[in-house]
Amino acid sequence: MENDTGNIENKDLPSLLRWYMDSGVDESIGDETLDWFAISTQPAPKTTSPAKVTATVSVEQIAEKAEQLAASCDSLSDLKQTIKSFDGCRLKKTATHTVFSDGNPDSNIMLIGEAPGVDEDRQGIPFVGESGQLLDRMFKAIDLAREKDFYIANIMPWRPPGNRNPTSEEITICLPFIKRHIELFKPELIILLGGISAKNLLNSSLGITRLRGKWAEYELKSSKIPVRSLFHPAYLLRQHKAKGDTWHDLLEIKAKVEELSL
Ligand code: URA
Repeated sequence: MENDTGNIENKDLPSLLRWYMDSGVDESIGDETLDWFAISTQPAPKTTSPAKVTATVSVEQIAEKAEQLAASCDSLSDLKQTIKSFDGCRLKKTATHTVFSDGNPDSNIMLIGEAPGVDEDRQGIPFVGESGQLLDRMFKAIDLAREKDFYIANIMPWRPPGNRNPTSEEITICLPFIKRHIELFKPELIILLGGISAKNLLNSSLGITRLRGKWAEYELKSSKIPVRSLFHPAYLLRQHKAKGDTWHDLLEIKAKVEELSL
């Protein structure tokens, strides 16, 4: 496989890449973590050429721009295009796809997860990996099917590399998009999947263990939409004991769906 200089020969690269993928390697990242926001806020080096002056933009300014862009969208397809062409979030640079939504856009129930994983990034569709399959089984158990009864999106449209959690800066920048997504979809019931989604959309400092198990409200224009927060399906795949609590939440959701005739 290696030639005399110790380099891999071109003809062997496809099988090497296949081997990496089969082993679960899904991206190449450096050993050192780089905080690009910190770097971009460092003073620009002194230069004698005015043409080389670098403009620095704060996270708040980028989020404000995202909010203006989101507000200018009048439909879900408009919003999807706007997010696709937005370059203010660094996650877009390492992602393969912008992951917008799936499910029935004419339904009344909106599920909101955290961020795409490797399978979602490859396919451009939310919740298609192992946790998505569990999610579909959970909702099937209360007679709700993704194709017919609900719509699903994430607070982050791009996959954070290595499946790390999105940083607070990345969330601040992308939050205006999911908020507009909610406004345009106009749900009658919102289900938040996992702590990141629940904390940020309910504007709470509490963790998912405290936010689940009860009803909350999301203010949408002049109305208050009922919200239920659930443990994230990826967490349930690891913590089987949490499935009992989640079953209780699902039964409450089923009762609410019947009460509201959704
Ligand atoms: N986890 C999420 O929160 N969203 C996805 O789309 C996939 C996994």
